[in-house]
Amino acid sequence: MRAQDLAHEVAERLTHSGSPSPGPEARTLVSHVLGIEPAQLLIASVSPRQRAVVDALVEQRAEGVPLQHLTGVAWFRYETLAVGPGVFIPRPETEEMVGWALRELAARPIDRRRVVELCAGSGAITASIARELGHVELHAVELSPEAHRYLVHNLEGLDVDVVLGDMADAFRELDGTVDLVIVNPPYIPEAHRLLLPSDVLQDPAEALFSGADGLDAMHVVAEVATRLLRPDGLLATEHDDSHAPAVVALFEAAGFRDVASHDDLTGRPRYVTASAPSEDGRIGL
Ligand SMILES: C[S@@+](CC[C@H](N)C(=O)[O-])C[C@H]1O[C@@H](n2cnc3c(N)ncnc32)[C@H](O)[C@@H]1O
Repeated sequence: MRAQDLAHEVAERLTHSGSPSPGPEARTLVSHVLGIEPAQLLIASVSPRQRAVVDALVEQRAEGVPLQHLTGVAWFRYETLAVGPGVFIPRPETEEMVGWALRELAARPIDRRRVVELCAGSGAITASIARELGHVELHAVELSPEAHRYLVHNLEGLDVDVVLGDMADAFRELDGTVDLVIVNPPYIPEAHRLLLPSDVLQDPAEALFSGADGLDAMHVVAEVATRLLRPDGLLATEHDDSHAPAVVALFEAAGFRDVASHDDLTGRPRYVTASAPSEDGRIGL
């Protein structure tokens, strides 16, 4: 059978099962099983055994297993990251914040590029900064042992200080010396658990939920960034698209300066940036 015919058939089946992007998903699944690039589907053919594997994956996808868990990889900016159950699948919504961080770091001298990523998950943010910028000192912390295994794997070969632990206590030896704290913390209110699509719920709960209003982790981020940042250091944090005013208010109340809200690629408010609190402004936490 021709691979492109199978990809069409799979796309139809995924359409019926409610996939948001059946065509690209079908091409990804079929090329994954064949071990080729999607562009090569036009000239490839499929054996009966390969077809059986594709059929099994399509069934799992129809049952709500994320595409990235079936292929074992997720793409983020220029990175291809290993992912699976137990680690948050990096989202395109986070890519803009990384672009902001890269521009800010590039404008700094190379001895003023000490970066800490909190809540690092698969390592998408840190890997992007390491590979796209260079001359940067990177530290990353992750709480979940399962996610930490993916983090270590994805950052292999990059010069990153990777820690398994709670961000609340992380990197005390760096207090007052960090140039940028960047984080995509858990931020979904607990009450939204029942409203989420089934494939989002395949991400680990500790990556998603953060107390009744979704801001528990954000308060910890403000505390940790206050202790880590040097006086002219910067913070960037992703947040729920409905939380921009609350997150701006939270960091202003904590004494941060130049607190600004930014949109993601879809035009939704998605991340907040700020300058470290001045010495006399370290209040309100
Ligand atoms: C939304 S995910 C973000 C992962 C990754 N940075 C990304 O953007 O794809 C949040 C991550 O924070 C981790 N996490 C939650 N609470 C934490 C804490 N107190 N300290 C460190 N990591 C934490 C979760 O295990 C999860 O991997």
